[in-house]
Amino acid sequence: MDLVLSSAFVANPYPVFARLREAAPMLWVEPWGCWLMSRAEDVDTSIRDTRRFSSTERVARVIRGVPGFEEGRFDAIYENFEVGIAQQDPPAHGRLRSLVSAAFTPRRVENLRPRIRELVGELLAPHLASGHLDLVSDLADPLPAIVIAELAGFPVEDRLRFRDWTYRINNFFFASGTADSGQGADANAAVLEAREWIADLVAERRRSPRDDLLTALAVAEHEGGRLSTAELLSVAITLFLGGHDTTTGLISLGFDGLLRAPDQMALIRERPDLVPAAVEEMLRFDAPFQMNLRYVTEDVPVAGVTVRRGELVRQALGSANRDPERWPDPDRFWIERPAARHFAFGLGPHFCLGAPLARLQGQVVVEMLLARLPGLRLADPSATPDLRADITNRNLRSLALQFDPVKPGA
Ligand code: HEM
Repeated sequence: MDLVLSSAFVANPYPVFARLREAAPMLWVEPWGCWLMSRAEDVDTSIRDTRRFSSTERVARVIRGVPGFEEGRFDAIYENFEVGIAQQDPPAHGRLRSLVSAAFTPRRVENLRPRIRELVGELLAPHLASGHLDLVSDLADPLPAIVIAELAGFPVEDRLRFRDWTYRINNFFFASGTADSGQGADANAAVLEAREWIADLVAERRRSPRDDLLTALAVAEHEGGRLSTAELLSVAITLFLGGHDTTTGLISLGFDGLLRAPDQMALIRERPDLVPAAVEEMLRFDAPFQMNLRYVTEDVPVAGVTVRRGELVRQALGSANRDPERWPDPDRFWIERPAARHFAFGLGPHFCLGAPLARLQGQVVVEMLLARLPGLRLADPSATPDLRADITNRNLRSLALQFDPVKPGA
């Protein structure tokens, strides 16, 4: 158990996962108050079994256990997670899912391609002549924030505010696995601030509707109560919680993996048709969202242990993505590996709604960085990756890159 509590686990969880898959594929982690499931087969089966591995109660139950809950100190965050789209089981889940999925049809997302290209071009432009950039702060962090803001209808200039709320909400329980009442209070305050901001935006959309997701949600709330106010606020918060930081992780961790595999860099330069496969390998190799959480509704045997009704399980998506039972040579970044379905976006009824949008951004970034930044490389391949201390949302804080300076107008 100590293995998963160490800072070495945050820095590189994969050797630990390899040991766990062999020796303890279901590990009880006392400080997290839950099981850690590490084998692909178990993750695959349990993630589809929404009856026994439920998505309701999983966060609500944790919040109820934190000192201060009874005094109402966490009411806003509690309600946000209780009514959230990711916290419902089928069939109830389908109602919210169908309302939100209308915004993410493959066609609507594909229509964003020219705009995403334009944004990447604008973000790269100031760095071309210098020959270096920080991939995270210059591109991977702002790009998905602007894209989600434009799609949802959030003011783009508020993107640092919703990033701040994301961090504060994630710091409670998701980042460390433990629920601390100080962080709970701060996460609660972040939800209250975000709700006030969203309520103002929704009121404005009612006065003057636009072609954006917030208007669609505001209409759904207004017409016949298809969406309650609490649900509307929760869905809107989910969009920046789910859509920003994860995509930053895909781009930054993905490039870190690709640039450390020079043969694969050479391959993708020669074969641009492999860009979509390269993005899937990025997602498999270093999953930005490392662990799903589920609540067990009846006693269930898994990998030699009995998980009791009412216990929590973390399904380690990052570990399942490196399971040698599923993936030959799993620790190799290998774009042309035999196709198999990775777990980075989850599976089953909660499969990531934003997956087409995340994939599109990843593909545009790979294409454009290779086309526009000649000789792209890590500035210091021997530097220790600058990872954030977060066991759920794996991400880099910075990634210094170099390339051959590009003359203006070239
Ligand atoms: C590389 C980027 C992304 C990764 C790795 C990722 C990962 C995930 C995962 C693993 C789930 C399933 C959670 C569960 O089963 O409990 C999920 C659900 C979800 N994601 Fe993403 N996501 C990404 C990008 C996005 C984007 C861009 C958006 C929206 C703008 C988004 C919105 C959502 C929503 C709304 C859900 C909940 C779906 C449901 O419960 O039915 N995600 N995501």
